[in-house]
Amino acid sequence: MRLPKAGTIEVAPSILSADFAKLADEIAEVESAGAKIIHLDIMDGHFVPNITIGPPVIARLRKHSKLVFDSHLMISEPAKFAERFVQAGSDHITFHIEAADEPERLIDKLHQLGVTAGVCLNPGTPVETIEKVAGLCDMVLVMTVEPGFGGQEFMPEAAKKIVQVREIVGPDVRVEVDGGIDVQTAPTVVSYGADTLVAGNAIFSQPDRSAVIEAIRAACG
Ligand code: DX5
Ligand code: ZN
Repeated sequence: MRLPKAGTIEVAPSILSADFAKLADEIAEVESAGAKIIHLDIMDGHFVPNITIGPPVIARLRKHSKLVFDSHLMISEPAKFAERFVQAGSDHITFHIEAADEPERLIDKLHQLGVTAGVCLNPGTPVETIEKVAGLCDMVLVMTVEPGFGGQEFMPEAAKKIVQVREIVGPDVRVEVDGGIDVQTAPTVVSYGADTLVAGNAIFSQPDRSAVIEAIRAACG
């Protein structure tokens, strides 16, 4: 599975707020609601103060879903673990610029392994830190909450960095935004240049996931 080409607005549900006891069903539900990308939040309890899932869970989910697996690695030493996330079935790997010693090298490695690659910026990390590597990415991720937990409040100042990121990467690279995205905040980030909208709590806190995905899309249309 490949990321859709840049230029379309995609809502990427984040599993962080899903029911982990029935992940495959939760993913199937957003797939039938028309999502093309599922955002998988990987936390190691070191880079962020929370722990989620690793490659064995992704490998099992892979058998149940044809969605693009967008793995957001909130981990220290991403270069050490990236290959295992590819082998487990990730289609796109995002790592944090704050955690990578040699980001160019890791992006190259991911491309050689046959997946698309991206870097992510925490709310307090300046855009300048990714200036050299942003153009090598297939998608750049801008955090609009501190990574670690779902359901936090959107940070408007962090979102403004999307404008700068879009300027650097041009129209052919996806710009993803993650944290506090819902029907209210989505139009703002799209106006800044984001085209890939991660939403966890907004979608999985509601019984009708399809209606939320549709409402977010409609709000941005
Ligand atoms: C936070 C994760 C997000 C999270 C977003 O560290 O990276 O993907 O699930 O959740 P909401 O949409 O609830 O802010
Ligand atoms: Zn995420």
